[in-house]
Amino acid sequence: HRHLLGIEGLVESDIVALLDEADAHIAFNRQVEKKSSALRGRTQINLFFEPSTRTQSSFELAGKRLGADVMNMSVASSSVKKGETLIDTAITLNAMRPDVIVVRHSQAGAVHLLARKVDCAVVNAGDGAHEHPTQALLDALTIRRNKGRIAGLVVAICGDILHSRVARSNIILLSALGARVRLVAPSTLLPAGIERFGVEVCRDMRQGLKDADIVMMLRLQRERMTGAFIPSTREYFHYFGLDADKLAEARPDALVMHPGPMNRGVEIDTAVADGAQSLIREQVETGVAVRMAVLEALARNLPNT
Ligand code: CP
Repeated sequence: HRHLLGIEGLVESDIVALLDEADAHIAFNRQVEKKSSALRGRTQINLFFEPSTRTQSSFELAGKRLGADVMNMSVASSSVKKGETLIDTAITLNAMRPDVIVVRHSQAGAVHLLARKVDCAVVNAGDGAHEHPTQALLDALTIRRNKGRIAGLVVAICGDILHSRVARSNIILLSALGARVRLVAPSTLLPAGIERFGVEVCRDMRQGLKDADIVMMLRLQRERMTGAFIPSTREYFHYFGLDADKLAEARPDALVMHPGPMNRGVEIDTAVADGAQSLIREQVETGVAVRMAVLEALARNLPNT
């Protein structure tokens, strides 16, 4: 593959190969000396039109640990603010001969459009409510490292499914690897026709958590909510917030995940987020390794001249 634009379009063997490579990078990243020359001489541009803590910083560290020259484009102080379009920005950056551009944008499909205008590899770091492929890869690797497998596990993805690119990428990836994916949300936060993805749907949190091996919580994406329905925090936490009491419905060895950023006291209680069943900090560590594996895989397909 020339780009990584989504999990859609990858086959199981592509996914497993990336997870295997990323797994090796976790041990590499725990060494005192964590610098390789796999991407020496290559230039990586991170172009984030939406805020990010985890994704942008882990892509930057991933590129640097592989020896690439990494440039973080500051969109807030760029000529985008003077009205330059996404396409003109892409064409301008492309003229500087980068080897890879990592892009986050608020519009679904914007990253695909950009990929058609540049000569380098493009990685989707999140496009609107569409896809966030490296998040799904890091989630899958975190599950595999803790449970030893993905096939056959019941994964409950809970909360704002409607606006979540993380949910969409995870549904595709986890289903491809044989997990039973269950979406748990109020009707107002479920996309119409989501059952066509072959998932179970549950509108009650306690029922939805029954027998779950993995409980993946999502943030309410208020910045994408435009309609009349914006839930009150207190009501939402009461019915759909994950606390110890609701978590007790899941399997005793269930593990809790969250892609971040978390809103404590809204979709997740602090005691659960920081509790013994939480993998949230491990997800962040896995994220650097997964992004290294993705950058290396794309670099193998770059021209040498
Ligand atoms: N999970 C995730 O994408 O986090 P950031 O928005 O901080 O990158």
